[in-house]
Amino acid sequence: MACTDVQARTIEEFAEILLKCNHLYHPSSDSIALRNAVESRRQIEIFDYSSSADAFTRAFGMRNSLKCLQALTNLKAAVHGYKNVCDLGCGSGAFSLAFAYLADNPGLELHGLDVSAHQLSLARELMSAAELPGRFQFEQRNLPARIGYHPDLTISSYWFCENEHVISDPALFDLMVGRELLIVDYEKIIDRIATGLPDGFHILARYSAHVEIPAALTDFVAQERASVYSLHIGRTSD
Ligand SMILES: C[S@@+](CC[C@H](N)C(=O)[O-])C[C@H]1O[C@@H](n2cnc3c(N)ncnc32)[C@H](O)[C@@H]1O
Repeated sequence: MACTDVQARTIEEFAEILLKCNHLYHPSSDSIALRNAVESRRQIEIFDYSSSADAFTRAFGMRNSLKCLQALTNLKAAVHGYKNVCDLGCGSGAFSLAFAYLADNPGLELHGLDVSAHQLSLARELMSAAELPGRFQFEQRNLPARIGYHPDLTISSYWFCENEHVISDPALFDLMVGRELLIVDYEKIIDRIATGLPDGFHILARYSAHVEIPAALTDFVAQERASVYSLHIGRTSD
């Protein structure tokens, strides 16, 4: 079977997991208003999650998760081998969910970090509804901060766009990255990270792609396809 067929089938199957969690994703009047406002402004947004975590998840949670899944498919079989994974700025769990689904690893220990208590409670609810293999812990942290260990893989979606100062500060960048880092973010942010990588890091892969939104999810995602920009980084000394 061609690689694109496998990706399409994986995304269709992942849609079933997302639908299992549909109570967190059903559009609300707030989420529709938020999506319309973001689309009309066409700029990188920094949200106030103390008041809009629920609307953010309903507006963008499924779409972000599908983008993360698309980026993760580039890891191919290696995705099953990461044991300690840290999701920086995990929010309501978009990347964590996609990772846990694709890794399908009962030995997985995934640790999500975020400053927003409301986002974290949605992430816990999501992972419990999804019933995926692995152990999941979500912790309130104001990042960047010392994590205390080097995860096998750090994952992060749309966190660097809200914390651009970390990109230009080698010490902070080093603090946040495990043995490898997989980022999904705006193209402009991926460009900035790729062109300004501090010493000690190198690019393992960079991808841009489109994800076709499965028909079963169009009521939730409100678009037919979405662009995905991702960057996979390794530590040179490893
Ligand atoms: C755009 S959301 C992305 C959430 C999720 N990763 C996704 O793709 O849907 C950014 C998240 O980063 C968190 N965040 C932003 N700045 C942070 C900081 N300095 N420390 C910890 N979390 C932060 C926010 O609370 C929010 O949940």
